Amino acid sequence: MRKKIIAGNWKMNKTVEEAVELANAIKISLADCSEVDVVLCPPFTAIKAVSDVVSETLINVGSQNMSSEDAGAYTGEISATMLKELFVRYVILGHSERRQYYKENDFWINKKVVKALAKNLRPILCVGEMLADREAGNTEKVVEVQVREGLKDVPASAYTDLVIAYEPVWAIGTGKTATSAQAQEVHAFIRGIVADMVGKDAANAVRIQYGGSMKPDNAKELLSQPDIDGGLIGGAALDAASFIGIVKAGL
Ligand code: PGA
Repeated sequence: MRKKIIAGNWKMNKTVEEAVELANAIKISLADCSEVDVVLCPPFTAIKAVSDVVSETLINVGSQNMSSEDAGAYTGEISATMLKELFVRYVILGHSERRQYYKENDFWINKKVVKALAKNLRPILCVGEMLADREAGNTEKVVEVQVREGLKDVPASAYTDLVIAYEPVWAIGTGKTATSAQAQEVHAFIRGIVADMVGKDAANAVRIQYGGSMKPDNAKELLSQPDIDGGLIGGAALDAASFIGIVKAGL
């Protein structure tokens, strides 16, 4: 049985003060939530403050990106060690916005995944097709390349610490959710690729989240699909009641 994981990706939102307020509101309901892994991913500037708020709870903190390098002359970058110092446990890597706007490619994303695992951080590797890919019938082709390249050189034993987020780019922030059947189909496909890469046990262990306009009212149906093990939530994670509603849908 895979434990569900619901992560809030706050993107470039929330000042420190606003982040503390949101984390506190979430903490009231979810501090002791042990049935679902809850992860809050604030912007870098608010990580310390959010870590302090949730320090004695079961709520985890994640970051939205990370450098592939250990230290040195990499202006603007943040290392795994720096994140761990702030009690970060999860790190979102290869989000479609990073791929699209900052030209991150599978090669660099893979380096980050491997680095995160080496530093005992849990990567949330994002994959997903653009609308044009889906319309051209290329969804599987695109997702397969992202999974195989992104997880290159990751040993089977690491898959219990790894999360894959399937986020169809056309569903992110658009209000268009993939139907539960569309999402389930791709999730099962991804699990099959993992099985082919590193074997059935790792494929059964890896958690695959859905992301893209997940809300309290569509979460239950998505989360009840056999291969959907959680959600990566953008817009709805900025509001405590919506985020809590999604976590509760996963119970
Ligand atoms: P959304 O974003 O929930 O606002 O669609 C999801 C994501 O980008 O992780």
